[in-house]
Amino acid sequence: MYIAILGRQPALGIAELERTFSGKSVKLLYPQAVSIDCDGFEIQNFGGVPKAGKIIAELPHSDWHQVSQKIVHYYTNEWSTFDGKITVGLSAYNFTVDAREVQKTGIILKQKLKKYDTSIRLVPNIEPALNSATSHHNKLGLSDNKVELLIVRTNDNKVIIAESTGSQNITAYAKRDQERPKRDAFVGMLPPKLAQIMINLASGDSSSTNKQCILDPFCGTGVILQEAVLKGYSAYGTDLSDKMIEYSHDNLDWLSNNYHKKFDYKLHQGDAMNTKWQQPIDIIVGETYLGQPFSAPPSPAKLNEVMQNCNHIITEFLKNLMPQIKTGTQICIAIPAWCDKNGHFNHLPLVSTIARLGYKPHEFTNILQNDLLYYREGQVVARELLVLTKI
Ligand SMILES: C[S@@+](CC[C@H](N)C(=O)[O-])C[C@H]1O[C@@H](n2cnc3c(N)ncnc32)[C@H](O)[C@@H]1O
Repeated sequence: MYIAILGRQPALGIAELERTFSGKSVKLLYPQAVSIDCDGFEIQNFGGVPKAGKIIAELPHSDWHQVSQKIVHYYTNEWSTFDGKITVGLSAYNFTVDAREVQKTGIILKQKLKKYDTSIRLVPNIEPALNSATSHHNKLGLSDNKVELLIVRTNDNKVIIAESTGSQNITAYAKRDQERPKRDAFVGMLPPKLAQIMINLASGDSSSTNKQCILDPFCGTGVILQEAVLKGYSAYGTDLSDKMIEYSHDNLDWLSNNYHKKFDYKLHQGDAMNTKWQQPIDIIVGETYLGQPFSAPPSPAKLNEVMQNCNHIITEFLKNLMPQIKTGTQICIAIPAWCDKNGHFNHLPLVSTIARLGYKPHEFTNILQNDLLYYREGQVVARELLVLTKI
């Protein structure tokens, strides 16, 4: 049994975990964490999970003082014969304790272990829970002598204690995002983490070992293609713009040089509304045209115009795709939704009529379709994720 600490938009992490492990394997512990009934968990595969750990205990009460005593008692025994120095991080989630109180548990443990000649380096807590960058930089969870305890109070007042099995590699994400040679602020740049989430949403539990082909019909600068080849898929990108095809090429070449691997991909120009794609196409993942960027909510007339245009392009794309893919083909597309000044989202009309186009939306166990929105505070255009199957 594993625990996943979720990212800034927890629903996206829950969705990718449900698609990978099934809805009933994933249980909400509190809004920022879930337990997963699985035998192993490779955190680098999940864009929406900053930290994960193996559950080692479940306690029936939630008082921090008692929890702290149990931790000290258990790990004093556990490490009393440990040879060498142990780096320890403590992260408390959903407790009403401050960082100093959490750190105190570590200090007591350190003092107790001194008697046994076991030496501990405590990672300082600035917050009750270490952020994933700190955990990553300290390599916590990656070896026996670098331990992070994830201590979570659940909604039903239990306490779960897990030993971290690692954090997201934020250095690698930043490199893939910022160091690739071709970026374009106007087409908007999909964060690699979100591309990873979308690939997981579309591929579900299917394995990529037989080199399935992922098509991105709006590939832009190629972020989805990059993440697809890193996962072992063969990637196929098309875009209306020749310039974007060139950008994707350059970025994939750069990736190949950086990872010292030859990746399998093909690219060509094409309008998603009428292109005839080359076969085979196994999975479709794409961030569609999102309309023009806005720095403030547009007037109702302008919004209507942009919405109609996006709705038209994406509907025509879905119609064009339909006869070119097999029944059961899985799709994840990011489409635009616009936030008004009251914080409400305007969704594209096609969202509610998608079944008429021959696609079935995936039903999640722990979240609703409306939860699948990726946006940052103050942004007008959000990305709404649709997870579909061709009927
Ligand atoms: C939001 S961007 C995608 C960005 C991309 N995810 C990336 O990694 O850079 C949308 C892309 O759709 C392309 N596009 C717009 N209309 C299109 C159409 N009818 N057919 C194919 N591509 C189109 C644009 O050129 C743009 O590159």
